[in-house]
Amino acid sequence: METNNSMDFATRQIHVGKEPDQYGALVPPIYMTSTFESVTPQYAYSRISNPSLTVVEKKMASLEGGEAALATASGMGAISSALWTALNAGEELVSSDTVYGCTFSLLKEHLPRFGVKVTFVDMTQVENVVKALTDKTTVVYLETPCNPTLKILDIAAICKAVHAYNPAIKVIVDNTFNSPYVQTPLALGADVVVHSATKYINGHGDVLAGFIVGKEDFLQKCRVIGLKDMTGSVMSPMTAFLVARGLKTLDVRMEKHCANAMKLARFLQGHPAVEKVNYPGLEDFEGHEIARAQMKLFGGMMAIELKGTREQIGEALKKFKVCTLAVSLGDAETLVEHPATMTHSTYTAEDLKAAGISEGMVRISVGLEGIDDLIGDFKAVLDTLI
Ligand SMILES: Cc1ncc(COP(=O)(O)O)c(C=O)c1O
Repeated sequence: METNNSMDFATRQIHVGKEPDQYGALVPPIYMTSTFESVTPQYAYSRISNPSLTVVEKKMASLEGGEAALATASGMGAISSALWTALNAGEELVSSDTVYGCTFSLLKEHLPRFGVKVTFVDMTQVENVVKALTDKTTVVYLETPCNPTLKILDIAAICKAVHAYNPAIKVIVDNTFNSPYVQTPLALGADVVVHSATKYINGHGDVLAGFIVGKEDFLQKCRVIGLKDMTGSVMSPMTAFLVARGLKTLDVRMEKHCANAMKLARFLQGHPAVEKVNYPGLEDFEGHEIARAQMKLFGGMMAIELKGTREQIGEALKKFKVCTLAVSLGDAETLVEHPATMTHSTYTAEDLKAAGISEGMVRISVGLEGIDDLIGDFKAVLDTLI
């Protein structure tokens, strides 16, 4: 089927990237091969490109509204391949102070080892970003909603201010928490989008995967520098097949994740063991208006602040029966985790405090189960804290 970018999101998530098959197969075959005979210049060796990866790369470029996309072995593979491509020793990167734990470690501990200066700022105030820019800045890096606090950053305002300072600075946005069904940073002025496709993009908790999306020339550099030579973080053809399968239902999954999250957030708001619910869909949540403007829905992620000691909260979290206590997000199963000791354990106590990640914060990736079962499970667990 011929596709174009004016087609509906739902049509593109299913059909983009498929080539006519010699046997008429509905689903593209999995090209489990490391090397290729010299039949076409497009494919030589699977560390550079592979037809199974081309299918999902075309889908992701279309869904995010980018010229091109590059599939990687994981979200960290995407982030590191993009950053190693974009940065040189002596240059500077300005990052949001609240990012995924391993991204934080890469930025804080490891990029400086190779001569890149990294400055962390609270990007809710755009002037903080501008103040941190210098003539050496080449990358501005952020996620929104931030992991795990759900803090909302104004992508369009940040991009406008950064590009007014220097149009050559690349604004890189991690869109993992939303997926392109919920938010498209490129349309808001960002230069590059990175994804952990391990999460909503695949959506079934059975692979690690990542993507970089953006302009053709930068993506080609990422392919032959960051991916081919520096990280080798290549997606396997089997993973590409599973990601293509997951992507076919992205819109319907996101609709239900978001609807369930809204109902769960309202329930949690009224529970006496809950100090605060951080969910962009709640009218009184800081950043709600910006979220309303830049997100199509309010997402499936939230963080709650619980009353109680670290030990009491730890004991309570073990009592879930429907939800699973585990890192990761974006799966059909509802996943609950404690950022301070799990996903953000790379932050020191001071880093946690600066980023607003408290001991009592619990992050929830709201799944696709029946909402009454989820609310019942949370009620039973939270009642043990009052
Ligand atoms: C926002 C965000 N970005 C990137 C990553 C890294 O992705 P992966 O685990 O696929 O390497 C994660 C993982 O949890 C994440 O939450």
